[in-house]
Amino acid sequence: METRIEELQRHASHRPGVISLAGGLPADELLPRGDLTLATTAILSGRSTEPFQYGWAEGCRELRAWIADRLVARGAAVDADDVIVTAGAQQALALIAATLPRGTRIVVDTETYPCAMHAFEFAGLEVVTEPLHPTDVRYVIDGVSNPHGVDRVGPRRAELLASGAPIIVDEAYAELRFDGRVPRPLVADAPGRVWHVGTLSKVISPGLRVGWVVAPRALHHRLLAAKQAADLQTCGLAQAALARLLATADYDQLLDRARNLYAARAAVLVEALRTHAPGWRFAEPVGGFSIWVETDLEGDDVDVLAAAVSAGTAFDPGRVFRPGGEVEPVAFRLSFSHAPVHELEHAVRRLVAAARKFRHCDRIVAA
Ligand SMILES: Cc1ncc(COP(=O)(O)O)c(C=O)c1O
Repeated sequence: METRIEELQRHASHRPGVISLAGGLPADELLPRGDLTLATTAILSGRSTEPFQYGWAEGCRELRAWIADRLVARGAAVDADDVIVTAGAQQALALIAATLPRGTRIVVDTETYPCAMHAFEFAGLEVVTEPLHPTDVRYVIDGVSNPHGVDRVGPRRAELLASGAPIIVDEAYAELRFDGRVPRPLVADAPGRVWHVGTLSKVISPGLRVGWVVAPRALHHRLLAAKQAADLQTCGLAQAALARLLATADYDQLLDRARNLYAARAAVLVEALRTHAPGWRFAEPVGGFSIWVETDLEGDDVDVLAAAVSAGTAFDPGRVFRPGGEVEPVAFRLSFSHAPVHELEHAVRRLVAAARKFRHCDRIVAA
């Protein structure tokens, strides 16, 4: 993240009274603390030393079996041996990037998850928005896109599959569609050229750092070697606790609760934007954590962020989601996932007030 943006976000996170719409954080009240306490206590007081010892790089078998079973239920031919548990989806992206030849072009959406771009660029890959060659690698966020909160892949699915290109499919928010309609995973239809990436961060807890990747079979061993070289294995205690939680708690119920809570927050944010910022453009989210808003404001989105923080709110400036870092049109990602529902409208009012001095007509009047 650019230093100034990070400074502003850190400042906002420490400043009392700021209602932050920044970051992709799950709601605190959804963290399954009770289930996690039971699972962790059972492991800490159990006989097995496995969670505390070195384990195999691919990760805990029970967890991999759970991940594979859920993919099978959605139509993919995947088994536990195909799954590599990673330190979050982020590490999965970094490992995939590390196994691709330097200079590989990765085609991304016009706005996309910034840390995926960082992982690709850090590994010497080139991030572009248009393929130069039909088989350039694609990176897509399936089901619900970050930052848009809408499905940007579904409508392009047939074309994407027909392209013959290798595809990195990030399903970070796919299960969090408000209508519960999780799409058929792309790995079901193109297993030889899809890296399927998932995570428990958004539904259970990002602090536990558990995600996964299913690589095309021919590349599995190379990816496993990259995992081993990076950190030997994902945290044994976190894996064991999650495996136990998933075996004992009702994951679909956790999902339903999360979908309902986020849908309610999204509706409040949408209503507040329609009421207080009628000129701003956005699509109503179908899931996930955020809304992508484009405006006709003039100036710099980071200056708008600075003004917003002074006014008591925060957001993620649009430039960080754009591969070229463009500032215009001035845009924001507004996350509804973490702020309390009754504070969302206040946050929008504060944002709109802070943005006023960046409005073209107000500037003319002021001049
Ligand atoms: C689209 C997307 N992919 C991956 C991640 C990283 O998730 P994890 O916490 O599993 O590393 C995020 C986190 O915000 C995300 O938005």
